[in-house]
Amino acid sequence: MMKKELSGKVALITGGSSGIGKATAIRFAQEGAKVVILARRIEKLEIVSCEIAGLVGEEKVLPIQTDVSDEAQVRSAFRKTMDVFKQIDIVVCNAGYLYSSRVEETTLEEWTQVYGTNVVGSFLVSREAFRHWKNTRIPGSLIFVSSKNAISPSAQVSAYCSAKAATLHLARCLAVEGAPYGIRVNSVLPDAVIKDSEMFSPERRKQVAQRYGIRDEEIETFYRNRNLLKVSIFPEDVAEAILFFAGNRGGKTTGAILPVDGGIETALAR
Ligand SMILES: NC(=O)c1ccc[n+]([C@@H]2O[C@H](COP(=O)([O-])OP(=O)(O)OC[C@H]3O[C@@H](n4cnc5c(N)ncnc54)[C@H](OP(=O)(O)O)[C@@H]3O)[C@@H](O)[C@H]2O)c1
Repeated sequence: MMKKELSGKVALITGGSSGIGKATAIRFAQEGAKVVILARRIEKLEIVSCEIAGLVGEEKVLPIQTDVSDEAQVRSAFRKTMDVFKQIDIVVCNAGYLYSSRVEETTLEEWTQVYGTNVVGSFLVSREAFRHWKNTRIPGSLIFVSSKNAISPSAQVSAYCSAKAATLHLARCLAVEGAPYGIRVNSVLPDAVIKDSEMFSPERRKQVAQRYGIRDEEIETFYRNRNLLKVSIFPEDVAEAILFFAGNRGGKTTGAILPVDGGIETALAR
């Protein structure tokens, strides 16, 4: 039998209870990894954890309630992972939060929450990963789930777009810093992943529809027609790109950007 791509590996995935993070955790588990999923709401984490356990066995999944913007909670999540699985090979910084509003209406609290999850969270999680990998000499793989918005600006989403740009450059800096230790850091840039995403809550769908002058139920078609290939992007498509960087297929790649967006002309800086 062929060896699975992530067999023997342990992967920690932030925001693993929904959308892209959940699809990634399932894909990794199917490829033989033990997976640790982090998010704030334990009920959702436990549901996903049961789903994964049903596929690969309960000894292969560990849900840990964690707010990635909280230093003590992030450190504790890494400690718990080590207690249970003894090592970490792959870390996916996927937890994200989007707040959409005109800049003059954006409160400091909303701005801080967007930066707290996307930027501070990515820093705190990456820092723990680097500490672990440098101590253990594991040549880890760190993957950031950034966004097409990191390189293509949008009106009324300035906190999110600029936060994603910050994490994209953080990933490049860490790629340079990690390379002497064999640590690879890469970014995946999705766009408009509607299926299973809480970012497309009914309220946000209404906002998006209003902004583009379309009806709520036309959102999927609108986003599909916006990209060059006229395709819908699903969480599983993004998970596939993350898997590439996580395993040996991406073993000679670091500091890279892989868009999963069907081709967006304003985001073609590759
Ligand atoms: N969907 C898209 O169209 C799209 C496009 C480009 C990029 N992205 C990026 O892809 C990533 C995943 O998106 P998604 O659509 O799958 O989002 P989602 O469905 O909203 O899921 C977000 C996940 O992050 C967790 N999370 C949020 N804040 C957190 C915090 N402070 N600490 C720990 N966990 C936290 C959520 O769980 P809790 O709320 O329970 O904590 C949930 O598990 C995000 O980084 C997003 O910016 C998405």
